[in-house]
Amino acid sequence: MLRTEGALLNELATSFEYPNLEPEMKNDSTVIVRPARNVAGSVRLPGDKSISHRYAMLAGIAKGDSRLKNFSTGADCASTLTCLRALGVDVQRTGDSVAIRGREARLQPPDAPLDCGNSGSTMRMLSGILAGQNFSSQLVGDASLSRRPMGRIIAPLEMMGARFVAQNEGRPPLRLTGGDLKAISYHMPVASAQVKSCLLFAGLFADGETSVGETVATRDHGELALRAFGAEVDHCENKIRIKGGQTLRGIEAEIPGDISSAAFFLCAAALFPGAELVIDNLLMNPTRARLLDILMLLGVKISVTQLEQQHGELKGTVKVEGRDLGTVTIAGADAAALIDEIPVLAAIAPYTSDGIEIRDARELRVKESDRIAAVAGNLRAMGAKVEERDDGLKIPGGQKLHGAEIDSQGDHRIAMAFAVAALCAEGETKIRGADAAVISYPGFFAALESVLER
Ligand code: S3P
Repeated sequence: MLRTEGALLNELATSFEYPNLEPEMKNDSTVIVRPARNVAGSVRLPGDKSISHRYAMLAGIAKGDSRLKNFSTGADCASTLTCLRALGVDVQRTGDSVAIRGREARLQPPDAPLDCGNSGSTMRMLSGILAGQNFSSQLVGDASLSRRPMGRIIAPLEMMGARFVAQNEGRPPLRLTGGDLKAISYHMPVASAQVKSCLLFAGLFADGETSVGETVATRDHGELALRAFGAEVDHCENKIRIKGGQTLRGIEAEIPGDISSAAFFLCAAALFPGAELVIDNLLMNPTRARLLDILMLLGVKISVTQLEQQHGELKGTVKVEGRDLGTVTIAGADAAALIDEIPVLAAIAPYTSDGIEIRDARELRVKESDRIAAVAGNLRAMGAKVEERDDGLKIPGGQKLHGAEIDSQGDHRIAMAFAVAALCAEGETKIRGADAAVISYPGFFAALESVLER
């Protein structure tokens, strides 16, 4: 059994509606994870976080009604819904379904700051829509979000005609004044799907055709979502183009399971030779599924069946069978494609035969925490040797880890990654600030427990 300390965690395992967490609440819960003997069974994941954000935002500015089934249960997507309500959008949540009545491009000025909680996606992508609105809004976030760089959306949105007031080198809180936008042709200096979606959303409100170029291909949910809502989006080589003035129409959708949340289960199963785990209804979008290739390169057996597509998003049933793990290097385009999965890959690296090297992943330093430092520090606490580099990590294989006190740093992916590392450690691991998991996956610890054999 996973033992939980603190009432909040019990609630997390069973409840599906979460208020935004205050930063102070992020470190008041501990989960104790004991080693496991095997992983077996099946799980089904709540809807993908990236798609949930985008569908909700576009539904808010579409004409007509949208119904989004299997909407993400995470606090981040709840932040997006909270902001949409504050902008006058009618949002009704029933079970795992969200019904949104679109306002046809024109939102209502908010009468208080828009609280984006812990969610960089909310702040960055919603800014694209707010840039096209004829009013000012303030965007605020928790302590972690307030440290994150927003210059990457401020610079291009200002070129389009929006005006910003930010703090301390482009950090939140932001004051954004929107209005008439002009189209731009912009090449992104950082590989960021959030920036790409932000600019394509702003492009809907611009006079002319907006073009966004990327050197490294990032997740394409923004492009697919815009098309699903009826917009024409052109993708040629590394440039995505959208014409302003297009009307979106509401959709019915069932959102595939979140593959970045599935990563924790896939990696847990990978650790145990003989393990067998099935995950159905899982997002299989090729720009998100690189983890499956990496696990196969490590020696894991993976099979995918029941492939289906809705609104351009592929989903399927994945079966993973654990094996002895070899070695792999993640660099270049893979670092961007696996940006959310690197913490858990790094957490299982000591248990591989020859280790895992991660390069070109400097972006991890400006996520919900400095994930390179958080992974290195917590692996060392468990007795691992780790080489920390400016843009990545080199983690030797063939290591034995012991249970330790893990500091999640209030970061959901760090809390969950180390719950996986703990499964093969000797002794108990205490994960401090485990309630951060609610950001993307409330119920994670209960779901993990349900597939463990001891
Ligand atoms: C996301 C893109 C990634 C990722 C984040 C979600 C998205 O961020 O880390 O969790 O939904 O577009 P960047 O695009 O900033 O790298």
